[in-house]
Amino acid sequence: MKITAPRGTFDILPGDALRWHWLEAAVRRVFGYYGYQEIRTPVFEHTELFQRGIGETTDIVEKEMYTFTDKGERSLTLRPEGTAPVVRSYVEHKLYSKGGITKLFYMGPMFRQERPQAGRFRQFHQFGVELFGTESPLADAEVITVAVELYKELGLTGLEVLLNSIGCPACRGEYQKALLSRLTPLKEELCASCQQRLHKNPMRLLDCKNPRCRELTEDVPPVTDYLCSSCRGHLEQTLSSLDGVGIGYRLEPRLVRGFDYYTRTVFEVINTGLGAQNAVCGGGRYDHLVEECGGPPTPGVGFASGMERLLLTLEQQGKFAGFSSAPQVFLIALDEKLAADGFALATGFRREGIATGSCLEVKSLKAQLRAADKLQAEFVVILGEDEWKDGQVSVRRMADGKQWRVDREEVRQFIKDLLGREL
Ligand code: HAM
Repeated sequence: MKITAPRGTFDILPGDALRWHWLEAAVRRVFGYYGYQEIRTPVFEHTELFQRGIGETTDIVEKEMYTFTDKGERSLTLRPEGTAPVVRSYVEHKLYSKGGITKLFYMGPMFRQERPQAGRFRQFHQFGVELFGTESPLADAEVITVAVELYKELGLTGLEVLLNSIGCPACRGEYQKALLSRLTPLKEELCASCQQRLHKNPMRLLDCKNPRCRELTEDVPPVTDYLCSSCRGHLEQTLSSLDGVGIGYRLEPRLVRGFDYYTRTVFEVINTGLGAQNAVCGGGRYDHLVEECGGPPTPGVGFASGMERLLLTLEQQGKFAGFSSAPQVFLIALDEKLAADGFALATGFRREGIATGSCLEVKSLKAQLRAADKLQAEFVVILGEDEWKDGQVSVRRMADGKQWRVDREEVRQFIKDLLGREL
């Protein structure tokens, strides 16, 4: 039986790798402008980290984690997200000890056992930032700005920032009480998960995907009605800072996000053209997570962005039309005796930084030209016996068939000049 990739996973084939490289380079570049430094954490962690960090009553912890027991009887989990691991590392290595703010970014695979569909996978990739050490609303505005500016740099259009505040534990407590008294009479009509969550964490009900639960919670009062004055002030300052840099947003009072670590600001960036799985980015503030993971009280704020969904959006918007990994030159040797000379010439091109392909086998001119054409090489350099004896080679421009005879000692410079002129 043929073995295939597990459901919800996929291979990144050579034809697609270039897009990933391009995206990864842009992410590193833009995060660099804002002073974020890379951190790499393991792909698996102690299960307890996610139970404690993300929250026992969340969909991710209840239903979606890849958890296994290793041969030492330890419960481990493939990371479903990057925030809890970064916080764990921040605490473990006392990155707070230098004082001030710490800005970290990460990029890599995450794992969630969700039902696969367009834009939703079981192994997917995220990049994200986490900013520690300040309660300033400017930090909230900055992480939203980093995301939006990065998307702008990528050339993405049609995105919308949705934003909400879910308050601090004090004002959220009041809201949870209000939700509880409103939804308890409807308990029997809620889905099984929501019935269980109602008493433990009623705000989770606003996040339920079940259509009946959505209906029942449709006209509950918005969390923003319950914000205390300091949370309200925080929200207002975050919004005015975004206004100041021209970043648009829509206030979305139902947005609560599927993690228990959030406090105050939560946000998502959606692409209206993506269908059901339309969030390309999600994030928010988490002022108690560092403490919950054993560190000193340290506020934090960050976001993560799904790379597959971004690449899908970019493809839909035609951003990859001009992408090519075509060689600049393709080397053709027409005689077995010239194969080694051809190899040496190709190596010389590559040493000069010219991307060069070849067949590595002597075939007919027609077959080798076909190979060059398939790879979309710009120029072909042909070593024929008679020309080689005269110290010459032929250079052909594939686009129009124009051909030159060039001294073999000068061919590298000749090609470089042609490529330079093409630029
Ligand atoms: P999240 O909203 O769960 O947040 O994920 C962020 C992004 O990852 C989503 O907006 C989506 O683009 C992508 N994503 C999530 N699940 C999948 C999936 N199954 N398949 C494909 N893409 C997916 C977090 O993970 C938080 N840690 C974000 C954060 C960072 N909050 C504060 N700091």
